[in-house]
Amino acid sequence: MTVDNAVSIVTGGARGIGKGIAEVLAAEGATVVVADIDEDVAKEAADELPGDAMAVGVDVSDPAETEALAETVVDEYGRIDVLCANAGIFPSAPIEEMTVEDWDEVTDVNAKGAFLCVKACLPHMRTQDYGRIVFTSSITGPMVGYPGWAHYGASKAAMLGFVRTAAIEVADRDITINAVLPGNVRTGGLDDLGEDYLDRMRESIPKGELGTPEDIGHAVAFLASEEAGYITGTTLVVDGGQTL
Ligand code: NAI
Repeated sequence: MTVDNAVSIVTGGARGIGKGIAEVLAAEGATVVVADIDEDVAKEAADELPGDAMAVGVDVSDPAETEALAETVVDEYGRIDVLCANAGIFPSAPIEEMTVEDWDEVTDVNAKGAFLCVKACLPHMRTQDYGRIVFTSSITGPMVGYPGWAHYGASKAAMLGFVRTAAIEVADRDITINAVLPGNVRTGGLDDLGEDYLDRMRESIPKGELGTPEDIGHAVAFLASEEAGYITGTTLVVDGGQTL
């Protein structure tokens, strides 16, 4: 699996799944850019990585900031080989209580944020004639529903519609775009949902345990590798069998 020396941006890379992705890519020899709205924690995460790494503060829902992210990375390393559009938020609210602002916030970060990162990085990938883009979607939306997360499910399903069309648009180059669909993964974000939620999820997973950020990192690293060049526009479910 080759991601050796690949200049790789991981959004939401300061914590949780993004941190796991960053660690696996760095261990495989990639140069990792930890891109996160929390720049201080991103710096700490980048400092802990082996090899060449840097942190960039970015709000992925802001087009000026995603453009600046791509420019910063190209200024520093001369190219962008891998984009892991992973940053996401998952507040919950029943539909009757969900405000328009709640909807906009979730879809802005999760779906629009992924689009903006691709929009900023793609011109550089086209120039290089090489790129690997991997979205962190979710089983929620395209495969299952969870009460309270209608806006989240919509945002995660939207990412997959984008992936399919984008894959065709870039197929004439050595550029691919795919998505991983994690089940329930033990991160700070998920811990915030409480022990009751975690217990219920544990019981519904045939493998008997929640996933780890590294489980998702290994799946992402495969799709980000040179060898995965004939895989595009598709999804890889990493859920311990939860959706079976
Ligand atoms: P987390 O809350 O532990 O970490 C998310 C990271 O994204 C944080 O470092 C945060 O600062 C950053 N972030 C938030 N908003 C941002 C923005 N606007 N711009 C840049 N960075 C931002 O979350 P977790 O659990 O690691 O989730 C990561 C991704 O995986 C999300 O897209 C989430 O929807 C997805 N996911 C998570 C699952 C889970 O069970 N934890 C399951 C399925 C999908």
